[in-house]
Amino acid sequence: MLELDPEQLDAGWRDLVRAAGQARGNAYCPYSNYRVGAALLCAGGEVVTGANVENAAYGSTICAERAALVAANARGLREFERLVVSVEGKPAAPCGACRQMLHEFATIRGSALEVLLHGQGAEVLHLTSVEELLPYGFGLG
Ligand code: THU
Repeated sequence: MLELDPEQLDAGWRDLVRAAGQARGNAYCPYSNYRVGAALLCAGGEVVTGANVENAAYGSTICAERAALVAANARGLREFERLVVSVEGKPAAPCGACRQMLHEFATIRGSALEVLLHGQGAEVLHLTSVEELLPYGFGLG
């Protein structure tokens, strides 16, 4: 996990941070009031976003990262280069279920899926990868 200043981000990362922040604004989180936005950069350059969507049956909630993965799959996009997870305040790392689902797609091309953890208002960002977040993750094949 690398700590970065916002000025150290290249233009591509900055665009992705903006997209994740915009998605965060669409979070449906009346129970936790904790907004999360995610933005995936796909291999072809497309950007697909997701936000957390909560439910009165709490366990039916879907996280922003998985919402983005599902949206990308619906468009036939399954190869991802970068992911930004954006919250308010301190940067937050993906939950276990999201790490496992990211792992499924992070290994398609055998390359590392880079993950940037962004906290709106926080001074530092954390740069990591799915491999680092879920070492020895389960996968078939
Ligand atoms: N949440 C995410 O969207 N991503 C994560 O990786 C962790 C948690 C959401 C789920 C729930 O709506 C809220 O944050 C509080 O747990």
